[in-house]
Amino acid sequence: MTHHRLIPALPEEISFDFPDGAFARVREILKARRDFDIGSYKDKYMKRRIAIRVRATHAVSVDDYCELLARSDGEQELLLKGLTIHVSQFFRNRPAFEKLREAVFPALFARLRQEGREEVTIWSVGCASGEEPYSLAIILRDSFAEELKKFKVSLVATDIHEGILDVARKGVYGPERLQDIPDGVLDRWFTKVGEKFELAPPIREMVAFRRGDLFDPVSIIESDLILCRNVLIYFERSEQERILNGFALALRTGGVLVLGKAETLVGETRRRFTTLCPVERMYVKNRFSAY
Ligand SMILES: C[S@@+](CC[C@H](N)C(=O)[O-])C[C@H]1O[C@@H](n2cnc3c(N)ncnc32)[C@H](O)[C@@H]1O
Repeated sequence: MTHHRLIPALPEEISFDFPDGAFARVREILKARRDFDIGSYKDKYMKRRIAIRVRATHAVSVDDYCELLARSDGEQELLLKGLTIHVSQFFRNRPAFEKLREAVFPALFARLRQEGREEVTIWSVGCASGEEPYSLAIILRDSFAEELKKFKVSLVATDIHEGILDVARKGVYGPERLQDIPDGVLDRWFTKVGEKFELAPPIREMVAFRRGDLFDPVSIIESDLILCRNVLIYFERSEQERILNGFALALRTGGVLVLGKAETLVGETRRRFTTLCPVERMYVKNRFSAY
């Protein structure tokens, strides 16, 4: 007999007992149909998000919702959107970007010169609608014009959600996404279109967006600088450790990892990096950190 269980209309912050069987079914559907595995994320967070969709669709039970999810591409898309939070902003946590401009980029280019290298790769992981990699592109254009002539800079941005990458490629943003930008940036690099602001092509063209799952080894990009901000928080600690170990492998010697303000290295990964700036969560890969 099917076990029907109603989802009570509770406020989001109150946790409740979401049936494990239904959770497993949702996991199976999303894995098979969307190649997205909710198993790596914090259970409580995922269950709360799924419950929001159960209520929004007026499904009478979680089992009913699973049936709807299995047959509806539209619902799969809406659930995915709900599960992956895409909030971002240009120059989010501005001091981190100033530190990149003042210390990290100069050191990076100095190292390239020293090593006689001509190419550098910067990877923005979980880039959402592109504000983070575009902020890096703006800094490079505004403060490192000479270096851009001398070095080939690849700025690659990945996210698991294809829909949000389309938004990123378009480069059109509401004013709420632009609240933290430095003086002059708006006039220099954006054009007002109605209520929104369109990013100028020279900046847009600097970033290559691709779909990539953090857990998929094929998505790993060998890099000199990795930004993975406000993504780890959604994962269980063991998964965070796995991801951070992956970054230690992906970074070239001397490469820098930047995490979000509320994120930090966990477990064994502390041995793979040296802290560069504790406040801005910046870490340098240790010379002998591969396993
Ligand atoms: C809150 S946004 C962070 C955006 C930006 N990094 C920032 O700090 O403003 C988190 C992003 O992580 C992405 N994400 C979640 N799971 C992922 C995974 N397994 N692989 C790649 N990206 C993922 C989500 O789709 C979402 O766009």
